[in-house]
Amino acid sequence: MAPPSRLLPATLQILRRRCASRFSTASSIVSPPSKAVLYDEHGAPDQVLRVADVPPVHLGDRDVCVRMLAAPINPSDINRIEGVYPIRPPLPGAVGGCEGVGQVHALGPAVTAPLSPGDWVIPSPSSFGTWQTYIVKNESMWHKVRSDVPMEYAATVTVNPLTALRMLRDFVQLNPGDAIVQNGATSIVGQCVIQLAKVHGIHTINIIRDRPGSEEAKGKLKQLGADEVFTESQLDMKNLKSLLGALPEPALGFNCVGGNAASLVLKFLRQGGTMVTYGGMSKRPVTAPTSYFIFKVCTSNPACESCASQFCTT
Ligand SMILES: NC(=O)c1ccc[n+]([C@@H]2O[C@H](COP(=O)([O-])OP(=O)(O)OC[C@H]3O[C@@H](n4cnc5c(N)ncnc54)[C@H](OP(=O)(O)O)[C@@H]3O)[C@@H](O)[C@H]2O)c1
Repeated sequence: MAPPSRLLPATLQILRRRCASRFSTASSIVSPPSKAVLYDEHGAPDQVLRVADVPPVHLGDRDVCVRMLAAPINPSDINRIEGVYPIRPPLPGAVGGCEGVGQVHALGPAVTAPLSPGDWVIPSPSSFGTWQTYIVKNESMWHKVRSDVPMEYAATVTVNPLTALRMLRDFVQLNPGDAIVQNGATSIVGQCVIQLAKVHGIHTINIIRDRPGSEEAKGKLKQLGADEVFTESQLDMKNLKSLLGALPEPALGFNCVGGNAASLVLKFLRQGGTMVTYGGMSKRPVTAPTSYFIFKVCTSNPACESCASQFCTT
């Protein structure tokens, strides 16, 4: 009679092999049976995803078994399943999800990280395969977090809030009173941008798409601290500056949509401003009027030493 493992579907054997290959020494500690949302080929998520049983594995000396509590569905998770995201887990047997929060269930015998059963941990750096009930990974892959924060915050802290923070810090030196402009403002990144900017005294001009519920969305974003929120159709006019009121022209813009929504961010930017593109939700190319490259280049920043534009007069 075949050993039980031979009777497992091929995908699960692959999963099991992957887990086992990481072990230097397999201990007698065994993870509970797990369930995973996985895919064997790329395609539309509702076509290729399925729920599968994952057999228990022996923990390696320095492995930590974590019971997942919550894991989000990020746009990049969808793109990985579709096969259009450049960094993807190997097929077949790819488990979905890249971030989440879990509770330490069991520790390998040689784990030295200050972790105990019951601690909350997140995968850090974020790694593949959070859409499963139990995950076994080396201790270096887990980062302990406080367990008195809302679970959904802990599950989503790695990707979107940090993206918002880095974008506000890394490209333009912003000071209290400055303004930024962004499209896709209802996204979680966009909402984090609004809240972080508010804390630092930076004004936000926000663009959302026209859809049912956009008026309600505007109200929610204003409650978070947004200074101005416009739908794309409201910006179908020549002189956007007249909409700024007392706000300064933004020095920095964020684009996660592409297409016309990217042009609107550029339209608001002050001369010499910077637009950061970090997503492409509309799946349309970023379009920019030629005149912006010619006439919106920096002409007045005395600190600028590296501008090579023939139009630059500094
Ligand atoms: N580069 C990086 O390191 C990095 C890191 C994090 C996130 N991202 C990217 O940032 C973007 C936002 O991520 P998230 O998790 O914050 O998103 P999210 O919360 O899922 O929100 C999605 C956003 O996209 C908008 N949207 C969806 N389909 C659209 C379409 N066809 N045309 C225009 N807008 C559309 C939604 O508007 P409605 O509210 O109107 O539906 C919403 O604002 C994604 O592209 C993601 O991949 C990049």
